[in-house]
Amino acid sequence: MKKTSIAPANIAFIKYWGKIDANQNIPVNDSISMNLSACLTTTTVEFDKKYKKDEISYVTKEMSKDGKERVIRHLDRIRKIAKSSLYAKVVTTNSFPSSCGIASSASGFASLSKAATAALNLDLSEKDLSNLSRFGSGSACRSIPDGFTYWKKGKKSEDSYAYSLKPANWWNICDIIVIVSEEKKKISSGDGHKRVNTSPYFKTRVKNLPNKIKGVKDAMKEKNMKKLGKIIEEEAVDLHLIAMSSTPPIFYWEKETLDVIKRIQLWREEGIEVYFTIDAGPNVHILCEGHEKENVLEKLKTLPYKIKTIINVPAKGVRQIENHLF
Ligand code: PMV
Repeated sequence: MKKTSIAPANIAFIKYWGKIDANQNIPVNDSISMNLSACLTTTTVEFDKKYKKDEISYVTKEMSKDGKERVIRHLDRIRKIAKSSLYAKVVTTNSFPSSCGIASSASGFASLSKAATAALNLDLSEKDLSNLSRFGSGSACRSIPDGFTYWKKGKKSEDSYAYSLKPANWWNICDIIVIVSEEKKKISSGDGHKRVNTSPYFKTRVKNLPNKIKGVKDAMKEKNMKKLGKIIEEEAVDLHLIAMSSTPPIFYWEKETLDVIKRIQLWREEGIEVYFTIDAGPNVHILCEGHEKENVLEKLKTLPYKIKTIINVPAKGVRQIENHLF
């Protein structure tokens, strides 16, 4: 009853920011994202009578009390479906810094859902696995299917899950994450979601979304980087506009965040086709087609402060692997 799985984080082109139902993570709007090939979480889960309580940890360090409780709540959901009362040992590891705006909760809950359901011999469909992962962390539902994924908010919980819009090999684009800070963010995305209705601009955001969603779908179909780039930048600004105008306000950006944004605008004027997006954190995702990658990496060498980069291409969704972590 031991299984291991690996799941990618994802970067949203159309953001999930605001929930209709906070307990069930039902979003205000549909969202669209790309799975990230170099931001992976691996999780091994074993259910066994020898465990007298759930044992949860990272490979190299302890997990926070809150983090463990969140994992246990998700194990409880899975035990309920499987009608099992067995405790589990869960060991997990990320290939990238967590809690700084790269969606480690997405890859974390996607890999946990896959490994734990497989360990209890539940053979869930992709749709049901996506639906289940959503309860752990909303954006986790988009890390289940392949490549570029679409999360339809649905009318009720059962209809709220993600499916693949295009496979990973559909479009040779890359996401270069510029890490300007690895510090744990002070305000979780959970708290950000709760505050959206306090922003006077939230209603306008929601009203404009159907057009943007159509734009991203069209851009994906046409492989039109310019069209995609314009919308993903608007979306990133929108998310942060809502965050900054919430009560109390949330400022996720560092000064380097704005500096990278301005440089991207300059590089574009110089003819490099690059665009940015940002999740709930300070780090900037630079999106470009594969042929621009080296140009962007050269430009990044000129930044006058220290950064780390993670280079991603579109990735497959969650999958089971044979190498266990314990
Ligand atoms: O899944 P959560 O609750 O961590 O929300 C994540 C929301 C953003 O990453 C900021 C946007 C998104 O759509 O991924």
